[in-house]
Amino acid sequence: MEQSYNSISQDVVEKYAHLSSEIKKHNRKYYVDDSPEVSDAEYDALYRELQKLEAEFPELINADSPTQTVGSKPSKAFNKIQHTIPMLSLGNVFSEEELNGFLDRLYRYLKLDQTDKIEIFAEPKIDGLSCSIRYEKGVMVHAATRGDGFEGEDITQNIKTIKTIPHKLKGDFPEIIEIRGEVFMLRKEFDILNQIQKEKGEKVFANARNAAAGSLRQLDSSVTATRPLDFYGYALGEVSQSIGQTQKEIRESIISYGFQGAEPVALCSTVEQLINYYKKMEIERADLNYEIDGLVYKVNNLEYQERLGFVSRAPRWATAHKFPAEKAVTVLEDIDIQVGRTGVLTPVARLQPIGVGGVVVSNATLHNKDEIERKDVRIGDHVILQRAGDVIPQITGVVLEKRRSDSKRYIFPNSCPVCGSDAIQEDDEVAVRCQGGLICDAQAKERLKHFVSRPAFDIEGLGNKIIEQFWDDKIIRSPVDIFTLENREQRDEINIKEKEGWGELSVKNLFQSIQDKKKISFNRFIYALGIRQVGEATAKKLALHYKNLETLSQEMINAKDKAGEAYNDLISIEDIGASVAKDIISFFNESHNQEILDALEKRVEIEAIEETINSDSPVSGKVLVFTGTLVKQSRSEAKALAERLGAKVTGSISAKTDYLIAGDKAGSKLKKAQNLGITTLSEDEWITLSSQKD
Ligand code: IVH
Repeated sequence: MEQSYNSISQDVVEKYAHLSSEIKKHNRKYYVDDSPEVSDAEYDALYRELQKLEAEFPELINADSPTQTVGSKPSKAFNKIQHTIPMLSLGNVFSEEELNGFLDRLYRYLKLDQTDKIEIFAEPKIDGLSCSIRYEKGVMVHAATRGDGFEGEDITQNIKTIKTIPHKLKGDFPEIIEIRGEVFMLRKEFDILNQIQKEKGEKVFANARNAAAGSLRQLDSSVTATRPLDFYGYALGEVSQSIGQTQKEIRESIISYGFQGAEPVALCSTVEQLINYYKKMEIERADLNYEIDGLVYKVNNLEYQERLGFVSRAPRWATAHKFPAEKAVTVLEDIDIQVGRTGVLTPVARLQPIGVGGVVVSNATLHNKDEIERKDVRIGDHVILQRAGDVIPQITGVVLEKRRSDSKRYIFPNSCPVCGSDAIQEDDEVAVRCQGGLICDAQAKERLKHFVSRPAFDIEGLGNKIIEQFWDDKIIRSPVDIFTLENREQRDEINIKEKEGWGELSVKNLFQSIQDKKKISFNRFIYALGIRQVGEATAKKLALHYKNLETLSQEMINAKDKAGEAYNDLISIEDIGASVAKDIISFFNESHNQEILDALEKRVEIEAIEETINSDSPVSGKVLVFTGTLVKQSRSEAKALAERLGAKVTGSISAKTDYLIAGDKAGSKLKKAQNLGITTLSEDEWITLSSQKD
């Protein structure tokens, strides 16, 4: 060790010290003073240079290095932690009617009778930041933010400063356990903190949640230690052993390990009980010593929770019941139009700035043309603005008594404000869409931003601003251009390093960050294409179903024939109906898109993905068809279960079908299967088969 340290030249040591202190200075400017002196790109360049030096001379690293201290600009300086079990969000209900809808869905999915009881465990929805804390043999090993749900930021050092979080668990705990819950700040502590901040002439926080967020994301955990953060546990991540049969028991176990839980909670078995709890909490809310933005209802029985599973990014077995949004009245000064990735023209209200729900709002969405007409919103009007939780502020109506005689009706454009093409509202759509497609700069830019965004190619060095700049300078006009940047720079066709704000090093880093992301999983790749209605969940289903780009492209060309097998195959995929299918097919049948795909395929490496769960189940890789009425499971539960077990569920019998599961009153499909000699199973046989491990 000593020897290698000696071999580092004085130059390197000095360079290291200089870089390290520069970065610390910029961190302070950014986080503490709120007045950064350098652009993000410049900061990143310095940071990467430091990382590179440390990689070359690990002996230089000390605990004080900016790469080691926890806290800072989260996506840049925190280490990443993969969640072994994703951290999901929650669906919402806002009314009794929607709550009934949620409960009905539970009964339907579980195929239970309304006379059966589904207990719901209800708890406060704490307005803070969620966090997952991992313990092994009872000792905290790390803690992470939710991040994108799959990967969070390592905030272990900061979490360790929170007094109400145990470093060691008490009592009888499983060998591995991840406790999930909310980091927040008590109201009175928040008031005191703001008082102190004010006295010190430092940043005053808009609300307790922001204060908690700012405090948790400190670069220096000794700053976090001075902040009065708190924690309530409410859920589990990975556990090596069950700690209860119900949500209520989980909560009790979490508390027995030394955590606090939010109070009061309620175990309800009827919708009336839930509503009573809601009404009680609506009144008590103001007196609670912490902020809540609603309640969370969770199916109490864990076996049911498991059967219900997840839809996309939220559990079917839980929902949030939000409190009504806070409202305010302000003046609508103007309406601007934003053109999105798929050409939709969205009207945005420019407002006289006003504080609502703890933040100052100066823009709000007006959704679409019909919405403006329905609400009869006019420029100059006093409008009612509402903001609920983290939802974008909305305009809910106009104060007619205050309407001025000079208020102006807004005429929705019938051409795109960016490219001038016609903007048309199609019969079955609410959206007015720019018809310019590829010639519309706004659409093209938005698509590029989507292409490089976090759930897509995730190219860190290419933020929105840089995409805009490179678009305007004609350096990047299509996704393919991203991957030819380095070559073109070398051949002097372009000259990024001479541009303002750029230099040798930042250009090198940019190329590196592109290089690093050339390998991409097939689902992310599909998502990156920005096909209308194809979000992350659908992209994943397509990737699993078609395995590679060549097959997908070819099948989508074949699927143009709606009577053919390829089309049927496409709409047999869960969640893909006629409308989504139409958008996918038209994307792949557009010749320009095919050219881009061909070019991309040569420049990036697309990796197939596999369904990891249960590849050893007896139905894994098998093609299943369900027909007739099932009694113990709903059709959707049966289908979801089959897919979780690695089977493919299709809608029609063919020679490729392995099993037909025939419920009551099975008709023509059963006959066809018998004719083809396909194994048919009763519902009970299916349940036995699906519960076998292998
Ligand atoms: S349970 C899979 N319980 O709300 C379900 N979440 O909008 C995981 N939250 O990300 C969440 N209080 O940050 C749960 N009692 C509570 C909660 C709660 C607050 C937050 C949490 C979550 C968000 C979803």
